[in-house]
Amino acid sequence: MDATLRNTLEQMPKAELHIHIEGSLEPELIFALARRNGVVLPYASVEALRSAYAFTNLQSFLDIYYAGASVLLTEPDFYDMTMAYLARAHDDHVRHVEIFFDPQTHTARGVAFATVIGGIYRALQDARAQWGMSGALIMCFLRHLPEAEAFATLEDALPYRDKFIGVGLDSSERGHPPEKFTRVFARCRALGLHLVAHAGEEGPAQYITTALDDLHVERIDHGVACLQDPALVERLVRQQTALTVCPLSNIKLCVFERMENHNLLALLDAGIAATVNSDDPAYFGGYLNANLLAAFEALPLTREHAHRLARNSFAAAFLPPAEKAAYLREVEAFFSQQP
Ligand code: HPA
Ligand code: ZN
Repeated sequence: MDATLRNTLEQMPKAELHIHIEGSLEPELIFALARRNGVVLPYASVEALRSAYAFTNLQSFLDIYYAGASVLLTEPDFYDMTMAYLARAHDDHVRHVEIFFDPQTHTARGVAFATVIGGIYRALQDARAQWGMSGALIMCFLRHLPEAEAFATLEDALPYRDKFIGVGLDSSERGHPPEKFTRVFARCRALGLHLVAHAGEEGPAQYITTALDDLHVERIDHGVACLQDPALVERLVRQQTALTVCPLSNIKLCVFERMENHNLLALLDAGIAATVNSDDPAYFGGYLNANLLAAFEALPLTREHAHRLARNSFAAAFLPPAEKAAYLREVEAFFSQQP
């Protein structure tokens, strides 16, 4: 790739809107936390663990991802994991982050909700103090678990309502359509929470439609299956519903065979408000800039597309209007200076 375009991608101000904090846990940190907590891992070494990261689909990844998260026990564990991610994001010129976390992965092991959110939230505060990076939390419900457990998780979360801005839906997509959680999302909506859901990653375009119609989500996570349905594409363009696309994730989980086949360019050229994100960077081979570089290497994306991706990332963020406008001005200032 042209060195100027590479520089633009690396240096441009950007927001990350689709990052599972448990997916930022690097093998080295998994081993360090296992040692600190006396947890015995079923892998002999960092290398052995990393070599298990050969996924064939979403479920094959989730099995290892939940196993990795089992080393997280204390508030400092959640803090250290989050701070390590935020430092990498800062290096990538990420100015604003909206972080997913999966409380059920931890509360099911006896870790208190307060421990989970306390450590993650404290790291976000430190990133704001150190780097002026803004951030917020989105609590995800695990869709393979029953509706009643999502309701129970929401009850656990309510004492910490001031520490998260929204809810999402993740884990095994096929066979667990968004409408399984219609009542939970209705309650969250009544509480004034922002709403997002994973849809159309491995599942069909229909799941994107029901996430919009039944859950009333404001953004779709992944959503790459939308091109199967022209009426849905027309709707996403008209409403400017953002898609949080994760290119390296899609390749690692075999949603597309090769980056050259990825539909990011087609989504942008159709007028969809696509953004680029890292999903689970420790498992999929790279943080936000690595995702941008991999997509721009493989596809005939241009500086104009880079500009739109930077703009889309802030436009789709759940930020107060004045803060959003300030970030969008930063993007325009950056692109007016750069060649
Ligand atoms: N899809 C669904 N659930 C997830 C993912 C994903 O890409 N990453 C972490 N949980
Ligand atoms: Zn995801």
